[in-house]
Amino acid sequence: MKKILIEVVIFGALTTSHNQILANMNHSSGHNHNTTFNQATFVKEFQKSLLLPPILNGKVQNGVRTFDLSVTKGKWEFIDGKFTETYGYNGPILGPILSLKKGEKTKINITNNLAEETTVHWHGGILSQNVDGVHNANIQPNTKKSVEFILNQPAATLWFHPHPMHKTASQVYKGLAGLIYLEDEQSQNLNIPKTYGVDDFPIIIQDKKLTKDGELTYSTTHMEKIHGKSGGHLMINGVISPYIDIPNGLIRLRIVNGSNATNYDIDLNGKDFYQIGSDGGLLSNPVTMKNLSLAPGERGEILIDSNILNKKSYLYINQKKALELRKNEKFGLTSIPKALVEIPKISKNLENLKTRVFTLKTTSKGNTINNIPYNMEKLNFEVQKGTQEIWEIKNGSKMMDMPHPFHVHGAQFRVIERNGKTPPLNEQGWKDTVNLNAGDTVKILISYTTDGITVYHCHILEHEEGGMMGQFQINN
Ligand code: C2O
Ligand code: CU
Ligand code: CU
Repeated sequence: MKKILIEVVIFGALTTSHNQILANMNHSSGHNHNTTFNQATFVKEFQKSLLLPPILNGKVQNGVRTFDLSVTKGKWEFIDGKFTETYGYNGPILGPILSLKKGEKTKINITNNLAEETTVHWHGGILSQNVDGVHNANIQPNTKKSVEFILNQPAATLWFHPHPMHKTASQVYKGLAGLIYLEDEQSQNLNIPKTYGVDDFPIIIQDKKLTKDGELTYSTTHMEKIHGKSGGHLMINGVISPYIDIPNGLIRLRIVNGSNATNYDIDLNGKDFYQIGSDGGLLSNPVTMKNLSLAPGERGEILIDSNILNKKSYLYINQKKALELRKNEKFGLTSIPKALVEIPKISKNLENLKTRVFTLKTTSKGNTINNIPYNMEKLNFEVQKGTQEIWEIKNGSKMMDMPHPFHVHGAQFRVIERNGKTPPLNEQGWKDTVNLNAGDTVKILISYTTDGITVYHCHILEHEEGGMMGQFQINN
């Protein structure tokens, strides 16, 4: 029943607006399009619509919602007429959106059709070591693996990506990234836009370096190992400079920074919008903003009231027009809810909690946390399941003036302090990745509810692979 409903919605999106659905993309048929971030001579901007990944509901078999995910090689037309070799889940680039419900048993059957090993990590999922996709999770070429889990956490936009040792950065860069829309009763009952492709849009932002022939290769120079791999072509859902048709009223953008290393500042050229969600869930109240900064790995859900926009407006990313917003004849929701969800208050007496310090450093010699690089054979510490701690995270890079987005697996935490102050409102919800600019110190409150070996790392993927990672064991 549910499935049919969703298909009607997608069909509706196709016929009533011109937003395209990224289904069955075994060969790209020219519906992906391009312009460039700083090489606008390659292609024309805002000629083609935003691609919408297919949203999957899976099949329920014996009470388990089951999905098939195949990791494949493909060709993708970033630049008109040029075919780029890419990786994708169930298609040439990116992946589908898995629509999951809180508390429901989920099974994912993964087939690796690549010529190299991979793993799938469920970024933001509060999951134990055995299903997290990091340790002993390698899926060899031409083999299959099934993973079963239950996400018992608030509704959120999560994502999944590869996490094999030393291959995470290259595999993400070549295109592997998909989304999870986790819903719960509260998110379904709220009066916010939720019609996929009509007023609710996924926005996966990435930047890649393409040659004029569309070649995309992953290699890193010494400087790129230090600063991370970024590129001159900015893309949204695998498309350079797309447009979307939007109704008159509220639209919801579920924005994911899926880049290897680039921070994005997102704005409407001075106009207000409202942040309603962070990495791990909806915020308690919408937060009025003029700029949203997202570091690699972070997500932000925003509402835009298109009534304040011109017929044609733009979403800007790092001060460049990145997405054209075209108002159509339809009408959407108009009132922004005052309150969204209850988020537990942070207790005033945290004094008796243990504090752990993590100092992240990049030097010309490499990347470390607390002066040691990641060692797969060693635990950095152990904790007890069911306990809470405070982590004090510091960006300790002195010479290298760069941000480090700090990510923890198997948990959603709360930011309790940023540089000695209460964090901004939009950072007070559930987080799994927190950005630290040079010199920043952030304190988070973390609860251990999973078990096994859990990693934490910088989400600049070149830093992660260069050693800015650690692991701890949660003992039962
Ligand atoms: Cu999104 Cu360990 O990663
Ligand atoms: Cu993760
Ligand atoms: Cu870093």
